[in-house]
Amino acid sequence: MNKKIFIGATVLAGIGTYKFINSQQQNKLNENWTTANIPDLTGQVIIVTGANSGIGFEAAKEFARKGAQTILACRNVNKAQAALAQIQAEIPQSKVEIMPLNLASQSSIRQFVGEFKKKYQRLDVLANNAGIMMVPYGITEDGFEQQFGTNHLGHFALTGLLIDLLLNTPHARVVNVSSNAHRFGTMDFDNLMYDGGKGYSPQQAYGRSKLANLLFTYELQRRFQAIGAKAIAVAAHPGYSSTNLTDSILKHWYVKMLFPLVSRMAQSSAMGALPTMRASVDPNVIGGQYFGPAGFMEQGGYPVVVPSTQASHNAADARQLWQVSETLTGVAFNL
Ligand SMILES: NC(=O)c1ccc[n+]([C@@H]2O[C@H](COP(=O)([O-])OP(=O)(O)OC[C@H]3O[C@@H](n4cnc5c(N)ncnc54)[C@H](OP(=O)(O)O)[C@@H]3O)[C@@H](O)[C@H]2O)c1
Repeated sequence: MNKKIFIGATVLAGIGTYKFINSQQQNKLNENWTTANIPDLTGQVIIVTGANSGIGFEAAKEFARKGAQTILACRNVNKAQAALAQIQAEIPQSKVEIMPLNLASQSSIRQFVGEFKKKYQRLDVLANNAGIMMVPYGITEDGFEQQFGTNHLGHFALTGLLIDLLLNTPHARVVNVSSNAHRFGTMDFDNLMYDGGKGYSPQQAYGRSKLANLLFTYELQRRFQAIGAKAIAVAAHPGYSSTNLTDSILKHWYVKMLFPLVSRMAQSSAMGALPTMRASVDPNVIGGQYFGPAGFMEQGGYPVVVPSTQASHNAADARQLWQVSETLTGVAFNL
């Protein structure tokens, strides 16, 4: 009898301890990471693409607040100037600068990198945030399908051209902004860019570009690791956040009719920017991690590490995408 009680008590104690440890880990994972957790960034140089609105604007503003030399890499200088004025009004001591960058133009990307390298010898964070979503079929000035061309190829080329600075800066990070939409993305290397609009669907093409963001992140991390680099590659997604991107989709009458509650479910762009910020500056981040909101279906909430699909971890696809991207952009990473 005593033996039975002893065994029972031991089992219960074991379960209790397991539950306690598990809940401690869970609490840590789910701890509410906010802008208050951003460390001092004085001395750091951070580029945010598409920083004039939405997620990019919020992230750039908070990096600047913490002392980073922040570069607003934007295609529309007027919009960028309005964003800069807003940041300077709120944070007068901030060090923020506009540098023109159109990710749908390989020559603009090269010009941007040339200008950047004339001014800066280090790059602590490259936040590849800019994006277009679910637009009709179209091509960039280099002939790339525009969602793949802007969201993936533009950032791929930008990263490749800046890789020397990233490798020379202690603990630099590349942060690629993906989306829950990567879940319906597929890679079809025989018709990667829906040539001439063949088989094009705005949703599918967006999903593919966002899957490409993750394949690129994980492959870059593998390549950093292979050469023993201190730099890391990380990904993030904002869940569902109210920005120009989502508002432009919601303005269609059929969306309003079919999904009357959808617009009310969106979190603010400031909340949506937290995963990108955490991936960019939380000192505990490990290369290859993917951050997104902790809430229901990763639509909203505080940023935590989230899983991505099996397709996003397909190393063969990642290698092929890398090769194709190097060929298309003419940018070979010196890794
Ligand atoms: N909001 C969401 O719920 C959501 C969900 C999942 C993923 N995301 C991702 O989050 C990122 C940021 O989007 P957002 O929601 O903040 O939308 P947003 O407010 O529309 O911001 C997008 C930014 O990208 C810029 N951009 C677009 N094309 C560009 C190009 N060719 N060259 C340079 N910049 C360009 C835009 O510039 P202009 O102002 O000149 O157009 C704008 O600054 C995107 O990668 C998007 O895919 C957003």
